[in-house]
Amino acid sequence: MTATQSTTLPKHAARLDRLPPYGFAVIGQRIIEMKNAGKDVIRIDIGSPDMPPPPHVIEALKKSVDNPNNHSYGSYRGDPGFRKAVAGYYKRRFGVEVDPDTEVLPLIGSKEGLVNMALAYLDVGDAVIVPDINYPAYSMGALMAGADIIELPLDPDNGYRPRFDLLKGDLSHAEILWINYPNNPTAATCELPLYEEIIDFCREHHLLLCSDNPYAEVVFDGYRAPSALQVKGSKDCTVEFMSLSKTYNMAGWRLGACVGNREAIDNLLVIKSNMDSGHFKSIYDAGAAALNDTPDSWIDERNAIYQRRRDKIMAVLPEIGLRAEKPRGSLYFWAKVEGGDDQKYVEEALNNALVAVTPGTMYGKPGRGYVRLSLGIADQRLDEALARLKEWYSKTR
Ligand SMILES: Cc1ncc(COP(=O)(O)O)c(C=O)c1O
Repeated sequence: MTATQSTTLPKHAARLDRLPPYGFAVIGQRIIEMKNAGKDVIRIDIGSPDMPPPPHVIEALKKSVDNPNNHSYGSYRGDPGFRKAVAGYYKRRFGVEVDPDTEVLPLIGSKEGLVNMALAYLDVGDAVIVPDINYPAYSMGALMAGADIIELPLDPDNGYRPRFDLLKGDLSHAEILWINYPNNPTAATCELPLYEEIIDFCREHHLLLCSDNPYAEVVFDGYRAPSALQVKGSKDCTVEFMSLSKTYNMAGWRLGACVGNREAIDNLLVIKSNMDSGHFKSIYDAGAAALNDTPDSWIDERNAIYQRRRDKIMAVLPEIGLRAEKPRGSLYFWAKVEGGDDQKYVEEALNNALVAVTPGTMYGKPGRGYVRLSLGIADQRLDEALARLKEWYSKTR
């Protein structure tokens, strides 16, 4: 989507022109047109879970909806039961103590919080440090606020770790550093010592660390993703964004939370309380049920399905003109295109194989030459997509 301007309505805000078109909206429109023309396009471009949430979550929602007392406005800080459930999850999963009343703020999907945190911390002339390959929401709040973006180079030859030594720009105006492991789109993962290094850097430069961690529970081969809040004392400069979208297959429910530094959470709440009135009580109740009552075995079984799909894709990569490291977390393959032209690959796969994949350049300039494939697609459709890609690619050689 891009801003429009008619001659009848007044001039729209300049901030709209600072926002680039949202990549998926553009691709999505094109795919709708192809589908309307009768073409059976298979989408392996979108990172949306294809499987349902745990059954007890649906039951909790139904039960809560039936309660006539659950339909009014809630509190701006969000439902206490949900906040407690988030705190319980952090304690159980990461051994991290957070106060549910002051160190947990529910979000209407974590994306909402990513953008609003920028509005809480950035003015014109301030800057945000964003990895040079990134989930676009980290920059969007900054652009809305009129702030500058300083790109943090990631090292593709070293697990996409940040290269602080290559950081260019005046850090004295920088307020926030964004990081994300397991990563969208590169599928890079990390261990706790990396968070320690990053937190040292943030303390040295007086930055708020925003660790975006929605894929913490989408992991393979026995890998366990850490939380930045596990670093001792990290709450002095860190918040983490957690999400139920990928952890419990609840992407459409729009539920997540910001966890950690109390002052940052209070400041985020100033923005939010002027912008929204919290979520629906029944969504909170279902979210609390997901966090409190989902056995680890449900997550393990779900991840085993993603892992099987991962292995299936891995096995055919050379036959579809791609190369990639085997991901051990996130919902994605970050694959290098033979010949290096991701835009051409995406166009040709869509036009000739009717398969949609995401161009790497959508995530930043260093994404050139890569495409992103998602594991969030039902097995049969994935098989069909891979067969079509193989057939198309074999004809190009
Ligand atoms: C890295 C990353 N952060 C945040 C989000 C937003 O998740 P949600 O708003 O569904 O919680 C996504 C969604 O795909 C993501 O990939």
